[in-house]
Amino acid sequence: NSPYHLLAIETSCDETSVAVVRNGTEVLSNVVSSQIDTHRRFGGVVPEIASRKHVESITVILEEAIAEAGVSPEQIDAVAVTQGPGLVGALLVGVVAAKSLALALDVPLIGTHHIAGHIYANRLIGEIRYPALALVVSGGHTELVLLESEGRFRIVGRTRDDAVGEAYDKVARALSLPYPGGPHVDRMAHEAEDAIELPRAWLEPESYDFSFSGLKSAVLAEINRANMKGEPIRAHALARGFQESVIDVVTVKAMRAAREYGVRQLLLCGGVAANKGLRARLTELCEEAGLPLLIPPHSLCTDNAAMIAAAADLKWRSGEFDTLDLKAEAQLSL
Ligand code: KG4
Ligand code: ZN
Repeated sequence: NSPYHLLAIETSCDETSVAVVRNGTEVLSNVVSSQIDTHRRFGGVVPEIASRKHVESITVILEEAIAEAGVSPEQIDAVAVTQGPGLVGALLVGVVAAKSLALALDVPLIGTHHIAGHIYANRLIGEIRYPALALVVSGGHTELVLLESEGRFRIVGRTRDDAVGEAYDKVARALSLPYPGGPHVDRMAHEAEDAIELPRAWLEPESYDFSFSGLKSAVLAEINRANMKGEPIRAHALARGFQESVIDVVTVKAMRAAREYGVRQLLLCGGVAANKGLRARLTELCEEAGLPLLIPPHSLCTDNAAMIAAAADLKWRSGEFDTLDLKAEAQLSL
């Protein structure tokens, strides 16, 4: 069993990232170049600017990741890339770079699903026991995914409107906090002395779906009410109330689904998995239930290429390769 190296590229949104991973899970380098500073003044990601920034940085980040890994290009055995979902212009930059590299090095190309990447980020920190349930919470996705066996995904619940991260960012914006607002709302919720009670959208009793737009509207309504009456906005108490509502709904539904499907492990992933309150509550609930839980460290929760390598590794091992006409797909399904 000689060592093998996968090089992975992730450009689905506003992070240009390249990683080199040995034997599927040993991260030799994971370079992430964030465009957040560029997009911040627009209050969100501007797709055209994102594509252009990826073009500007991809070769530099590629060289950096290879150098940092301490491997020569000839030691790379396959090139993996995020095929979708995401911003199509942004995805294209990564896909074109991956194809060129695979062609130049004469190695296989492996297209990877972005959410499979978030889920399999957990492979980098521990062994996954099947069946497992993944709670995927990011800026673009909020899903409960049942993993019946390796590489077999079944979405058992999803958001019907905003993704959790999106709701965090919108609430943050209403409170005049900088983009992306998730970490700021998280910090304020912890600093708060009290909470403004906000609604929880449980939906139908049997449903594992989510809805956060009503909660977001409740925050906006409270801000408007205070403004109309000339009262100060209780930003900390609102942040705490918002965070409590989100955490309550996602953890209760995740634990209920874990029981119903009899899973052996829970996996938390996606950018919002960086949330301190969510990590703490889920850890507590899983301990009580005796259910093993994996949560990647912060750097592997937000978009990065090492997680793409971790997902691509399953395809590498089963020889599931793509041809050079692989297409970037904005709406790729899991
Ligand atoms: O996974 P990610 O990097 O990008 C997507 O694929 O969407 O997730 C980014 C999202 C943003 O909405 C950001 O506000 C949110 O994750 N986020 C947080 C925290 N850190 C990042 N949300 C709540 N609490 C945090 N600590
Ligand atoms: Zn993501």
